[in-house]
Amino acid sequence: MRIIKPNDIPSSEITPREIYLNRRRFMAGIAAFAAAPALATPAPPARGPRLAGVRPGRFSTNEAKTPFESVTTYNNFYEFGTGKSDPAEKAHTLKTRPWTVSVEGEIRRPRIYDIDELLKFASLEERIYRLRCVEGWSMVIPWVGFPLAELIRRVEPTGNAKFVEFVTLHDPRQMPGQRSSVLDWPYIEGLRIDEANHPLTLLAVGLYGEVLPNQNGAPIRLVMPWKYGFKSAKSIVKIRFVEKAPLTAWMRAAPNEYGFFSNVNPKVDHPRWSQARERRIGEFFKRETLMFNGYAEQVAPLYRGMDLRKYF
Ligand code: MTE
Repeated sequence: MRIIKPNDIPSSEITPREIYLNRRRFMAGIAAFAAAPALATPAPPARGPRLAGVRPGRFSTNEAKTPFESVTTYNNFYEFGTGKSDPAEKAHTLKTRPWTVSVEGEIRRPRIYDIDELLKFASLEERIYRLRCVEGWSMVIPWVGFPLAELIRRVEPTGNAKFVEFVTLHDPRQMPGQRSSVLDWPYIEGLRIDEANHPLTLLAVGLYGEVLPNQNGAPIRLVMPWKYGFKSAKSIVKIRFVEKAPLTAWMRAAPNEYGFFSNVNPKVDHPRWSQARERRIGEFFKRETLMFNGYAEQVAPLYRGMDLRKYF
């Protein structure tokens, strides 16, 4: 989702990584057959420790899951570079312990939580959610986490808490992409308080039953399946309850392209490409994008009466 380059090709138009990988393996196979020694294929991504006591959660789709390899090697995480393989290749420099999340602002119980304390205070659920990137690709990911509403309940927001701001770690030594000015760091995202409290909104700490890989936003990130992927801020260090809508990193970078709500909406095009269809990673043909990414039944009431062209 690089900024203001009129001739940019959305990544959904580029050969999907696994088709490219398969093609490369196929070519490698031919080469190996023709001339020994055999060429090596890339090593599969490392698996993380398993999370204990994860129970099946609500709202899971029964669509086919995107393979672990694609979920962990095809990402956006600009703190590690703008290429899709940069996060998997470079995020090993991120240290996820010790890690704290400061919860502050318009609440009665502000606190700095240690990540291991946060991990314990709600039982972990697996939620298999669709995720649709603003660039036109989508995945189905089995997240592990707990509803953000659990945390909100504990910190007791005041009547002035109308919005919630999420801030990603800012440390260019650990996140080399922050040495570039592609975004104004730190990465900031925001939700209206009712969106933050919605039962679909997850604080994720794992995927595929395992501790979240660094490239997917370890140790803790947001997941809102009815919004474009960029709303799901990764590697969160601060959650702030505020009265006014936060100015998010993408709104600062390109306000005409990325609005505050960023709900998946096939009827509202991005200024540089259509949002009507998407490429599910692993599939060749595109499929129709669904309103609210297929979660309209759960979330449409949040936006009743709003002009979603204006509030995109
Ligand atoms: N969070 C941070 N801090 N930095 C980022 O660059 N990219 C977003 C989102 N969260 C991003 C981020 C975008 S554009 C997408 S599509 C998702 O992360 C993709 O990551 P995932 O596949 O691990 O969900």
